[in-house]
Amino acid sequence: MAIHDHLLLLVVLFSWTSSPVLAQYASSFPSPMSMITKTAYLNSWTQINSSVPTAGNTPFFWGRQDLGWMTAIRVDGTSYVLTASQNNFQLAQGLAAAITPTRSVFTMQAGSVNLNLTYISPIEPSDWVLQSLPFGYLAIDIWSADDKPHSVQLYSDISGQWISGNQGNVMTWSTTTTAKSIYHQAARQQKAAMGEIQGFAEDSTVYLAVPLSTPFVTHQTASFNVSRSIFAENGKLDNTANTTYRAIGKDYPVLAFAADLGNIEKTSSPIVFALGLVRDPVVTYRKNGALENRPPLFRTRWKTETAAIDDFLANFSNALSRAIDFDTKIMSDAGKVSGNYSDLVAASLRQTMAPLEFTTAPNGDFDGDLRVFLKDLGTTDRINPVDTLYAAFPAYLYLNTSLAGHLLEPLLEFQSSSGYTNAYAAPDLGTWPNALGNTTDQKAFAVENCGSMLIMALAHAQKSGDGTLIQKYYKLLKGWADYLVTNTLVPTGYLSADNTSSTTSNLALKGITGIWAMSKINEALGSTGTQNNLTQSYLATAKDYAKQWQTRAFLGDHIASDYGSSTNWGLIYNLYAPKLLNSDLIPENIFDTQASWYRSQLPKGLFDAIYLLILRTH
Ligand SMILES: *[C@@H]1O[C@H](CO)[C@@H](O)[C@H](O)[C@H]1NC(C)=O
Ligand SMILES: *[C@@H]1O[C@H](CO)[C@@H](O)[C@H](O)[C@H]1NC(C)=O
Ligand SMILES: *[C@@H]1O[C@H](CO)[C@@H](O)[C@H](O)[C@H]1NC(C)=O
Ligand SMILES: *[C@@H]1O[C@H](CO)[C@@H](O)[C@H](O)[C@H]1NC(C)=O
Ligand SMILES: *[C@@H]1O[C@H](CO)[C@@H](O)[C@H](O)[C@H]1NC(C)=O
Ligand SMILES: *[C@@H]1O[C@H](CO)[C@@H](O)[C@H](O)[C@H]1NC(C)=O
Ligand SMILES: *[C@@H]1O[C@H](CO)[C@@H](O)[C@H](O)[C@H]1NC(C)=O
Ligand SMILES: *[C@@H]1O[C@H](CO)[C@@H](O)[C@H](O)[C@H]1NC(C)=O
Ligand SMILES: *[C@@H]1O[C@H](CO)[C@@H](O)[C@H](O)[C@H]1NC(C)=O
Ligand SMILES: *[C@@H]1O[C@H](CO)[C@@H](O)[C@H](O)[C@H]1NC(C)=O
Repeated sequence: MAIHDHLLLLVVLFSWTSSPVLAQYASSFPSPMSMITKTAYLNSWTQINSSVPTAGNTPFFWGRQDLGWMTAIRVDGTSYVLTASQNNFQLAQGLAAAITPTRSVFTMQAGSVNLNLTYISPIEPSDWVLQSLPFGYLAIDIWSADDKPHSVQLYSDISGQWISGNQGNVMTWSTTTTAKSIYHQAARQQKAAMGEIQGFAEDSTVYLAVPLSTPFVTHQTASFNVSRSIFAENGKLDNTANTTYRAIGKDYPVLAFAADLGNIEKTSSPIVFALGLVRDPVVTYRKNGALENRPPLFRTRWKTETAAIDDFLANFSNALSRAIDFDTKIMSDAGKVSGNYSDLVAASLRQTMAPLEFTTAPNGDFDGDLRVFLKDLGTTDRINPVDTLYAAFPAYLYLNTSLAGHLLEPLLEFQSSSGYTNAYAAPDLGTWPNALGNTTDQKAFAVENCGSMLIMALAHAQKSGDGTLIQKYYKLLKGWADYLVTNTLVPTGYLSADNTSSTTSNLALKGITGIWAMSKINEALGSTGTQNNLTQSYLATAKDYAKQWQTRAFLGDHIASDYGSSTNWGLIYNLYAPKLLNSDLIPENIFDTQASWYRSQLPKGLFDAIYLLILRTH
């Protein structure tokens, strides 16, 4: 489900009621809520209940299965579970939840203290090495509910459920103390390189880490019941390791930390945990005909996980300030459209960055060889799917225009190789983690994909001022534009990204905008006679088609979904593309009329229902 299609639409929808609303947190948000989501497999969620966090719910990987991550607090000798569940622990009470683009905050009460659990999935659009680090934070602030000091201990553990989709697989684990931190790690005893079961990577290592400065920190690895009982009993762990390596689901070995905060009225700084899921290499990519296994970009700054974890924890307060600044800017920019829009952005922006893997060359060519891959985490596991990229592209352009180019490049690179012979654009690069290219017959989506690729290629060049991609892949782009000239005006037999043939107006508009984009690409690259003629020729065709499109699609008071049909209408979200490209291809009055139509068709109640539906299904 591509929420971004709806986000684009919402920009249009909301544009008639823009009253700036500046809020730090979203006023409504979906359930489930994200805990930490970063990179293709570090993906954790929890179900909340009517905007209130609920202790006792097991975290899970979106659309897949349960994850083992339990957090608990012991207050005046009584133990309360905060996330996940455990026999003989009380359940903390959820008070409130809040969400920003990078953070989910759960406010809970346990006995006589209140606490905030803040899960941070850093978004670092200006530092891709940091963005590529598959780690997030859990920061816990505690304050007394009755202004009196209370005896407080914290606990958190992870199980092997992160590292395999099959709990019969054997895991091994260890605990390491560095000069700055302590961390646990666990992995399959026999990793399956590039393997996946039930959507879980079979070649990952999971980490849980704390700074060495954590108050009276203790650790243990043991069966979940043993470790948690010892904490409940003593408020600390035994600093021992049961190293009987066994199946993930055999008595569920857990890797645990406890911190003893003593008698406190409040924490002066948060207690911080880092959770990470590391894979190396992350994808197999076909480059210049050869397959290569590509390491994550963070390797260029940190040779070892130890070094990465030490810096990640040491930099917590910087990372938190960056996250707050980033959130404030996003919420402020989105709030200028509307409050509802900033809610949607708060709930979805993390997901546009989370599925990205930044990779570098196996040989250590760090500068010239960055490739960025997006995993469709919805249901398909496709790599750099064109429809998803198109929908999310405005977000990438907003965050960092160069990033948008790095997402396009692998698609362009593969399709300009001899391995690709289709006359139209491919839908994706294959299925995660094998970016081998997709040469299957996807002709039904040819207009859709050619149009999207041309629009994105021009949008990237315009917004970044960098013509490298359109120059390097000119021939490919021109081929796709020529395909559109023949096929887009009446796209009989073609399907849109929504996988339906009854949306010809929306699909044709994308193709026509693609031809217009080719005219601009051509114009940017050449001023010789032949080039000028081509520029004029694409421009004339696009203008002519746009006129014909209006005759066929525009009924005077709205755009029909399907040419000639007066009975159906729909979300013509490709109207956004001419706006994005600053094109005058479609006259202003069409936008105004269509906006009025939406308003007239969506009574307030229905509008609210759709808004909530989008939040629930994002
Ligand atoms: C969800 O919240 C409602 C209203 O506060 C409450 O009645 C219900 O018991 C809660 N459900 C769960 C599963 O916690
Ligand atoms: C707890 O989180 C809320 C947001 O839900 C925030 O307003 C509040 O300041 C936080 N309190 C502390 C002590 O961090
Ligand atoms: C985009 O990312 C690159 C690489 O990290 C960085 O050099 C550049 O400053 C970023 N641009 C913006 C606008 O953040
Ligand atoms: C865990 O401990 C609880 C309480 O002591 C007990 O009821 C339960 O059977 C134990 N579970 C396992 C799997 O050992
Ligand atoms: C380690 O855990 C296993 C599985 O629960 C258990 O059978 C074994 O007795 C434990 N070893 C020690 C030394 O406690
Ligand atoms: C992270 O911390 C290290 C020292 O531990 C420092 O050298 C580095 O500049 C920091 N990086 C960021 C992005 O804060
Ligand atoms: C969202 O829209 C609804 C209905 O249009 C309105 O009642 C509500 O106040 C809006 N919320 C925000 C945060 O602007
Ligand atoms: C090619 O793309 C189609 C549509 O996205 C997808 O169903 C198919 O699995 C892909 N083929 C390969 C080899 O990945
Ligand atoms: C399109 O829809 C058809 C029929 O519902 C389905 O069989 C097919 O898998 C869908 N194709 C894609 C690429 O989603
Ligand atoms: C450009 O088009 C004009 C008029 O159609 C034609 O006379 C001229 O030869 C063309 N120039 C080139 C270099 O193709």
